[in-house]
Amino acid sequence: MRGLHKRYGDIHALRGIDLDVEAGEVFALLGPNGAGKSTTVEILEGHRGATSGTVRVMGMDPATSGREYRDRIGIVLQHSGIEDELSVREALEMYASVYADPADPDEVLAQVGLGEQADQRVKRLSGGQQRRIDLALGLIGRPDVLFLDEPTTGFDPAARRRSWELIAGLRSLGVTILLTTHYMDEAQQLADRVAVIVAGEIVAGGTPVQLMEAAGETAISFRTEPGSSLEGLPLVDAVVSTTSVTVRTMAPTTVLHELTGWALSRDIELHELSVTRPTLEDVYLQLAETEVEP
Ligand SMILES: Nc1ncnc2c1ncn2[C@@H]1O[C@H](COP(=O)(O)OP(=O)(O)OP(=O)(O)O)[C@@H](O)[C@H]1O
Ligand SMILES: [Mg+2]
Repeated sequence: MRGLHKRYGDIHALRGIDLDVEAGEVFALLGPNGAGKSTTVEILEGHRGATSGTVRVMGMDPATSGREYRDRIGIVLQHSGIEDELSVREALEMYASVYADPADPDEVLAQVGLGEQADQRVKRLSGGQQRRIDLALGLIGRPDVLFLDEPTTGFDPAARRRSWELIAGLRSLGVTILLTTHYMDEAQQLADRVAVIVAGEIVAGGTPVQLMEAAGETAISFRTEPGSSLEGLPLVDAVVSTTSVTVRTMAPTTVLHELTGWALSRDIELHELSVTRPTLEDVYLQLAETEVEP
């Protein structure tokens, strides 16, 4: 995507999005409600037109490429509208029939953990089970590129883990995956790279590790014995409370070395010594507060 803008009347939903997703990669779009994630994904799917800018997926323009494009992509919309009088298997067979080279419906149902519900009507499924059907419909065409808009919202923890395995498995088959999610652990677990969209603009991007490193400081903390002296503690900017000492640093290896050296030389035990990095969620929360000019 280059210089992508999308206006809905007065709402300027996308304000110049540049995005590159490499073949074979899992890419996660993160951002608060209304940031423009679904709009971005739906433009890539060919479901919406952009106001301006260019989009190419596998060399094709989703807005004008027809069957040839749709045959190669799979889609899980944020809100799907499948016919809920059908049985689970019938729904899958119906979607399979529009693809040139579909997967076996029963195999896909087993993959998403709906094997036992194959003959049940879609409308009788629980919320999380309906979401699994959506995922199955995204997979039925054996896509080269898969778009997943909040694929695991409403899943129980076990179902989320299973779909992570499924997504990792698709990645190992070479499927390119663009997903959106509000779960930072999901992004951290699955994504090769992420981009954070706030109010229609990309405010940060990179691998999860790069984002966490850019956010910087590692916290090192430990608890001290009552009455023990911190004399000679090499950590000048340590925050000392009544029960613990915490230092934030960009150079954790050096600081840990100094700290443990100090403790060993004085025969001091560092209780509950911990080294914690900012999580992707910490980083995200900082970024999501980024002010953007209206
Ligand atoms: N069909 C539409 N008509 C008018 N405005 C729309 C339409 N679709 C989206 N918008 C607006 O565009 C902006 C971006 O919406 P979008 O659905 O892309 O956000 P999102 O990042 O997917 O949010 P969420 O996390 O809640 O799914 C919002 O301000 C939304 O109100
Ligand atoms: Mg959305």
